[in-house]
Amino acid sequence: MKLNGQTTVVVGAQLGDEGKAKVVDYLAQFHDIVVRFNGGDNAGHTVVVNGEKHVFHLIPAGALYPDKINCIGAGVVFNPEMFLKEFEYSKKVAGTTSDNFKIASNAHVILPSYIAMDGANESTSNGVGSTKRGIGPAYEAKVGRRGLRVGDLLSASKLAKALTRGTSVDAQTFEAYLDYGQKLAPMVCDVGLYLEKMIKAGKKVLFEGAQGALLDIDHGAYPYVTSSNCVTAAAAIGSGIGPNRLNNLVGVIKSYVTKVGKGPFPTAMAPEDDEVIREKGSEWGATTGRPRKCGWLDIVALKYACQINGLNGLWINKSDILAGNDVWICTAYSINGKIVDEYPVGTEELESATAVYEKLAGWSVADLTDPNFKAFVQFIENQVGCPVVGIGTGPGRDDICIP
Ligand code: IMP
Ligand code: MG
Repeated sequence: MKLNGQTTVVVGAQLGDEGKAKVVDYLAQFHDIVVRFNGGDNAGHTVVVNGEKHVFHLIPAGALYPDKINCIGAGVVFNPEMFLKEFEYSKKVAGTTSDNFKIASNAHVILPSYIAMDGANESTSNGVGSTKRGIGPAYEAKVGRRGLRVGDLLSASKLAKALTRGTSVDAQTFEAYLDYGQKLAPMVCDVGLYLEKMIKAGKKVLFEGAQGALLDIDHGAYPYVTSSNCVTAAAAIGSGIGPNRLNNLVGVIKSYVTKVGKGPFPTAMAPEDDEVIREKGSEWGATTGRPRKCGWLDIVALKYACQINGLNGLWINKSDILAGNDVWICTAYSINGKIVDEYPVGTEELESATAVYEKLAGWSVADLTDPNFKAFVQFIENQVGCPVVGIGTGPGRDDICIP
């Protein structure tokens, strides 16, 4: 894949679960540093190497390489227990050490009480289908200026002082979080400053987004969204560098769409197709195990994702799953009798939208030598005005086709 400049941002251009980790794992070989910048362990990033499946929730997918530096930026809400678990896993499978990890001292910390609050909220009518990892409450505490940050865990006096901001923890949590702080200390630093120095020194940096454009707190189908910005611009804010540093902006999609959690889904498949694609594509949540609802590719939503992300490259995954099927693509919505091809930011309009489809001839293999698959790729490029820069043809590290 042709890369310009020193940095690449990979984001989800649908509703999460587009296979971003596979793309990050592939692109990591051309970069020195991999950075998570938004969300927390609500993400489920799956990479398959030599037939072995690895799932990460918090640490960047670069953790499968022994020679990459993996950063957690300030925009992430950080569960120390999950980090340490995945850190041990990375040590075991890739031989990494604490030298391979940098954690922003200004990233906010998830507390056990936030996880409990998330679970309690989910059982009320306000539930949106959260992963119950405490993500929403952690961002609430952050913008409410009562949050605890990773740097606050580095000594008892720092932690005690941070707790005067309006958050309280019991004695057991206090001790447990101090203990996490001791373990994390060698990795805690100013990640923005580190990245700026590395970019100036000519290093290449890859930013790994979590969730997807339509789950973005500002631009997604509110309130059926996550609690962070999931778009490319968040890579700058969430890691502490300037937006002028971001070069390649890659949006990842599947050749169909999946959704977990509540909210409008205009291209949802009929139950018989939904079941077939879920089985073929193993569409169960990597974090929650929930079945994902399957839908047809939505060009209206994808054009919107290209706009809010400023994408200059699209990556299409899982076209092998649709092989042998008829392929339907939504090119417009019908909303209260009106045909529209622009994504409505009003969630109520989206809720009453029905998809207008075009049918494309199915392909037998997801390979550009198959004329029907090539036509599908060109159809997407023409509709959204963004070049396809990569194609995933199966779950493995090498199942990739670069046009
Ligand atoms: P939360 O981020 O756990 O609060 O969940 C809020 C919404 O975002 C729910 O609909 C979740 O299903 C969805 N969500 C959060 N993380 C992911 C993800 O990594 N993939 C897909 N959906 C997600
Ligand atoms: Mg996922």
